[in-house]
Amino acid sequence: MSETAPGHRLALPFLLFAVVVALVLGLPGAREVAAQAKSSDAALEAQKLAWDDSLPGPRQPIPFSHAIHAGQYQIQCLYCHTGTDRSRMAGVPSVENCMGCHAQFGGDLEGVQILKKDYWEEKKPIEWQQIHRLPEHVKFRHNRHIQAGVACQTCHGPVQEMNKVYLVPDRGWMNGVPVAKLEMGWCINCHNKNNASIDCLTCHH
Ligand code: HEC
Ligand code: HEC
Ligand code: HEC
Ligand code: HEC
Ligand code: HEC
Repeated sequence: MSETAPGHRLALPFLLFAVVVALVLGLPGAREVAAQAKSSDAALEAQKLAWDDSLPGPRQPIPFSHAIHAGQYQIQCLYCHTGTDRSRMAGVPSVENCMGCHAQFGGDLEGVQILKKDYWEEKKPIEWQQIHRLPEHVKFRHNRHIQAGVACQTCHGPVQEMNKVYLVPDRGWMNGVPVAKLEMGWCINCHNKNNASIDCLTCHH
């Protein structure tokens, strides 16, 4: 999944450069040209896989691929999941965040067309299906983990390689009992290994 054609890496900087030059020179229709520039084969393929029902993970309202954004173009996790290092929630990006890039290019991609037509023009937030969710009685704080240096991938798997995000299974044992990801034993195992608190009130109200 990690094989990337070197040419594609250059595509974004080049495209942005061309748009900036065109805008500075005041060339007519620079935005339209950029919006219609043909997208890469990798982007078209990623879109298809993001909506492939035979792959694990829920179907999202827009065929959005982490393999393209966080993998191939190396956009930082925190660029979109802003606040993961500061607040309890990681949060998902707003339509405005997406449009920061896609007002300029990608207009020929089906997913970007849905983004513009159904959400940006309608001024509606995107209702992404949440994949990782804890019960209400549990306190979880992203910021404490990020500040302690735990990588996103430790808990979420290699998201930057996924066209469609899913809950990567992580099975372990605690006191001879099997535990799965997001279960209490999963949290406790890692807290024990890292000398983090296992006091009931750390995780429960
Ligand atoms: C920092 C710039 C940037 C941001 C922000 C961004 N994108 Fe993209 N997006 C790209 C690039 C670059 C491509 C690849 C275009 C290509 O290769 O032709 C792409 C491709 C896509 C594609 C087609 C490939 C795929 O992922 O399935 C979709 C759909 C898409 N973006 C949707 C979104 C949505 C929805 C958001 C907001 C959640 C978003 N993008 C935010 C830069 C961005
Ligand atoms: C261009 C914006 C963008 C970037 C960059 C990005 N994400 Fe996301 N992320 C999204 C969007 C949009 C969703 C919701 C749709 C989906 O699940 O694919 C999401 C969903 C997720 C989810 C699933 C959340 C849930 O519902 O449980 C995880 C986990 C995640 N991202 C982790 C990461 C990690 C780790 C990175 C960096 C390697 C990253 N993301 C980079 C936009 C982004
Ligand atoms: C210690 C494990 C752990 C780490 C590290 C971690 N997450 Fe999470 N993540 C979780 C858990 C647990 C949930 C479910 C939270 C809930 O339901 O309250 C979650 C939920 C999410 C969600 C969806 C719900 C929300 O909180 O908005 C996103 C998006 C996400 N994580 C992204 C990230 C990103 C990006 C990083 C790295 C910057 C990261 N996570 C690091 C465990 C982790
Ligand atoms: C991959 C390892 C790992 C996993 C998995 C993990 N944690 Fe943590 N957790 C840590 C570390 C490391 C700290 C930071 C301890 C510190 O700041 O001293 C921490 C801190 C916390 C804190 C803050 C403690 C405080 O003193 O304020 C809470 C709350 C918490 N974790 C809840 C959870 C819950 C709930 C889960 C399971 C859903 C979980 N953690 C899973 C490693 C993990
Ligand atoms: C590091 C975080 C963490 C600590 C510490 C912790 N719990 Fe939990 N606890 C969880 C999580 C996460 C769940 C939700 C598990 C699930 O949904 O499968 C949970 C669920 C529970 C439940 C509901 C039943 C169940 O298994 O789902 C009870 C009762 C409970 N915990 C009691 C305790 C007690 C008592 C302590 C102290 C001895 C404690 N917990 C310490 C994270 C923690």
